[in-house]
Amino acid sequence: MPADLVFRDVRIVDGTGAPAREGDVAVEAGRISATDGAAATGPATRDIDGRGLVLSPGFVDTHTHDDAALVAHPGLEFKVAQGCTSLVIGNCGFSAFPAADDALGATAAPAGSATLAAFRAAVHRQPTAANAVALIGHNTVRTAVLGPEERRPPTSNELATMRAAVERAMDDGACGFSTGLVYTPGRWSTTDEIVALAEPAGERGGLYATHIRNEAAGLLTAIDEALAIGRAAGTPVHISHHKSMDPPNWGRVPESLARVDAAHAAGQDVTLDVYPYTATSGPFHQYVDLDAIDLDFAARTRIASCPAFPRYEGRALADIAADEGVGLDEAVRRVLGGDPALARQVVSITTAIDEADIEANLRHPRMMVGSDGIPDLRGNPHPRLFGTFPRVLARYVRDRAVLPLEEAVRRMTGLSCDRFGLAGRGRIEVGAWADLVLFDPATVVDTATYDDPSASPRAWCAWW
Ligand code: ZN
Ligand code: CU
Repeated sequence: MPADLVFRDVRIVDGTGAPAREGDVAVEAGRISATDGAAATGPATRDIDGRGLVLSPGFVDTHTHDDAALVAHPGLEFKVAQGCTSLVIGNCGFSAFPAADDALGATAAPAGSATLAAFRAAVHRQPTAANAVALIGHNTVRTAVLGPEERRPPTSNELATMRAAVERAMDDGACGFSTGLVYTPGRWSTTDEIVALAEPAGERGGLYATHIRNEAAGLLTAIDEALAIGRAAGTPVHISHHKSMDPPNWGRVPESLARVDAAHAAGQDVTLDVYPYTATSGPFHQYVDLDAIDLDFAARTRIASCPAFPRYEGRALADIAADEGVGLDEAVRRVLGGDPALARQVVSITTAIDEADIEANLRHPRMMVGSDGIPDLRGNPHPRLFGTFPRVLARYVRDRAVLPLEEAVRRMTGLSCDRFGLAGRGRIEVGAWADLVLFDPATVVDTATYDDPSASPRAWCAWW
């Protein structure tokens, strides 16, 4: 029996961190059937000459907001073009279940996804181009039980209902519980509320993934809270998009990583992810207090999508202000003006992160890669949606030698699959699912920019 597919003379980077080696890899019925010897070198229905190219496991985007995109854009071209074959959805406290929620406009669920099982059925109505594993989001659960505006703690009955939602999601196959503690309504929750909800995730083998309460001046306190939640709940912790935001706080990622390492040395299970860009992006209205507009923040901000006023999309607030002959604060008000439901869908991009902090993150052995891309394809999204994985390979592996290729691939594949429970994926070994990416390490490059974010990466061929 010939194999379905053989990649010949490739450099195998197998996802474990082991040194690259030359060889052939055979695929049969969707799984890797041989990585060496006659079975791999024998005849195949289809041969791919991989000389000079690297074959690695398909990449895992550990931090996505692609919940709704799985239904709305099942081809997931923006992810597949980066070599991603698996996604973790439900990040930053926003998931497609147990109820629809529009706090991160692009992640809004298709109506009727009361449970993960129901959402999965909606996703499965058509083929999708990538695998996905789901977190259940705290903001979504809290909104479903208390509504979006309650600042008080839940009653014991409400907390029991929220806990039951987490338990149900875990029983339906979720990989953990996520928070976004800068966002409403999560920002009104106490540490105890989060512990109570992270606990059932840990009891069922899941993790606690967190967009921590403060990523700027309060970074270290927020890291300490995340670690304390993990210890109190008995749940492994995953710090999302680790960073130290805003110029006065630059250079503090090593300090924050030292806290994580101290916890790890003391026996706590902690991992992280990072995206390779110096600008953040998210729901604009969540970052703005209209009674005290932060002009420094506004000066570093541009608008990604603005459904009420598409003319603002892709433009810096400073340019909008200059054009319209108003101050920055008035420009902020104009962008958030009009229909409040549409204003909540405005997504902004803000230059906020130090390049040296990104490199410190990428050097860390338990740091995975996650795009944090927001798949609102209407305007000018942050280029991380289109370029994250090739950018790590091009800029940080090849150009700046921040980490070796094998290590970068491990932290985009094997480590991520182990962490998020993607069994049978993330390694090139016999029996594993054939989620594979073939690329030229000498030329692979992201081309997405802030002005032209949807430009495709180059030097890819992907099979899965
Ligand atoms: Zn986040
Ligand atoms: Cu996020």
